[in-house]
Amino acid sequence: MTKGTLYGLGIGPGDSDLITVKALKILKSVDILVYPAPLDGDSLARKIIDPHLDKKYTEIAIKMPLENSQFPSDEVYGEATTKISKLLDSGSDIAAICEGDPFLYGSFIYLFERLIKTEKVVVVPGVSSPMACAAILGKPLVTKNDCLVIIPGTLPEEQIIKKMEVAEGVVVVKIGRHIKKILSALKKSGLMDNAQYIERAGLKEERIVPLSEISAPVPYFSIIMAHRRGDAWK
Ligand SMILES: C[S@@+](CC[C@H](N)C(=O)[O-])C[C@H]1O[C@@H](n2cnc3c(N)ncnc32)[C@H](O)[C@@H]1O
Repeated sequence: MTKGTLYGLGIGPGDSDLITVKALKILKSVDILVYPAPLDGDSLARKIIDPHLDKKYTEIAIKMPLENSQFPSDEVYGEATTKISKLLDSGSDIAAICEGDPFLYGSFIYLFERLIKTEKVVVVPGVSSPMACAAILGKPLVTKNDCLVIIPGTLPEEQIIKKMEVAEGVVVVKIGRHIKKILSALKKSGLMDNAQYIERAGLKEERIVPLSEISAPVPYFSIIMAHRRGDAWK
């Protein structure tokens, strides 16, 4: 029997219309969906593609704590890998849907590393959250000879400051309970007046809030963007 294919499908960061034609075609062609989900509550990835689902799928939710610094859990991914391998062996194609792009901090990478040597895996890129947030905020990320740095807010403050200082364009992801430390890093690196905050971009709960009005904690699905010159075109 021919083995099935595992598709890592980028589905964009929030707006359901930001899925690519390629990802949509694959979504319609498979019968099994795999997606990450928080321990409590709904999966953002599942919510994003919901308007596109017009049949019954077999659904496998990989439950994990979103903000866990010990991430990824070997046990959780080990179990998911075994399940997925069995289904691929039986000839089924599977779509592992990934919020944004699968290869930009995507939890899909933990499936990819476990399965790439033994299975056929195809990755379909998606619109990632920094790109979507820049468009919504009307703030180009970088121009000309600028460099862009994407910084996980989970890093210690001194490291965040150092990384903020190496590039003209700055994006901070994984904010959540780290907001106070990130605001302090922005101040110390002279970026506070140039920075914008957006949460749940592209979803109906989207909020753009001035940094001076933010109170901790903020949602995990939030981004801060800044440019050293204020606007990238200057
Ligand atoms: C584990 S990373 C995954 C990034 C994703 N693969 C991508 O390409 O955008 C999760 C972080 O991306 C950012 N993010 C993802 N979707 C977002 C959204 N709709 N609005 C704001 N930030 C988002 C947040 O900073 C969040 O903590």
